[in-house]
Amino acid sequence: MDLVRTERGLRKVIWSWRGSGDRIVFVPTMGALHEGHLSLVRLAKKYGERVVVSIFVNPTQFAPGEDLEAYPRTEKEDARLLKAEGVDMVYIPNPDTMYNVHHATTVQVGGVAKGLETDYRPTFFDGVALVVAKLFNRVQPDTAIFGEKDYQQLATIRRLVEDLDMPIKIIGAPIARDAHGLALSSRNAYFDETGLTLARKLNIIMRKCAADMREGQHVDMATSEAKSALLKAGFSSVDYVEVRSPNSLTVLEGGYLNGPARVLVAAHCPNQGQSVRLIDNFPV
Ligand code: PAJ
Repeated sequence: MDLVRTERGLRKVIWSWRGSGDRIVFVPTMGALHEGHLSLVRLAKKYGERVVVSIFVNPTQFAPGEDLEAYPRTEKEDARLLKAEGVDMVYIPNPDTMYNVHHATTVQVGGVAKGLETDYRPTFFDGVALVVAKLFNRVQPDTAIFGEKDYQQLATIRRLVEDLDMPIKIIGAPIARDAHGLALSSRNAYFDETGLTLARKLNIIMRKCAADMREGQHVDMATSEAKSALLKAGFSSVDYVEVRSPNSLTVLEGGYLNGPARVLVAAHCPNQGQSVRLIDNFPV
């Protein structure tokens, strides 16, 4: 496995692969890898001959006061895991070359990127779209894999690629969960035992919400019951529980489901005197 840190090193390898006609599949990450990331890597192998994984804790998607400094960094262990998966290249760009002092360009996606997450993290998708556009230009993949765990992010990247004519196929990968149904996340590393026990209740409450709607309960009733259940279980606050159409993420009309939908949630789980923000989503 190549471990590459410079653009020059990256280009050299990418060009040689392109020259031999290999298809390149890309999995962007912020590291602190877990089974969720590795499931993306395994899926990536089905789409091409070469798999590139990037690790970059992207400062532009963190707002002031968020956990940029505290975000777990486990580079050595990440490289070991990726090597064991047979990844061809891990790309770990130097932060100074990603955003140099003259950087002045923004990338703003509308539509699917507005609402839900951006009601609470207004600049989040600007940072994601910017870094993903830059990484795509550097890696020049044929295909890129994103997890459904970050459902709105996946929709945002699909929009970005289509709107800017990037010749990259975007694949969504299913959510990897622990044995208790908690969606795997690098931020789960923050949890102590009590925090983890509560975090694991989120998926149970949300599955009930999805089942209730499937059985004909009004969307407003099901989502407000889910919010109450989350607060009663011990979540300190709920940013949103919302039901949207699965692709465009538009608000559903009518209040009752008559086709596939997605229920999306963001809630704060108290942990060691602070709180960890969990996001998750479920098909209905
Ligand atoms: P990160 O949170 O490291 O996630 C990298 C990729 O792994 C994303 O596509 C995410 O959706 C996916 N992923 C994380 N947990 C998952 C799980 N439990 N099941 C399935 N997929 C999962 O998302 C980011 O990094 C960043 O925003 C990034 C796209 C790299 C841009 O900086």
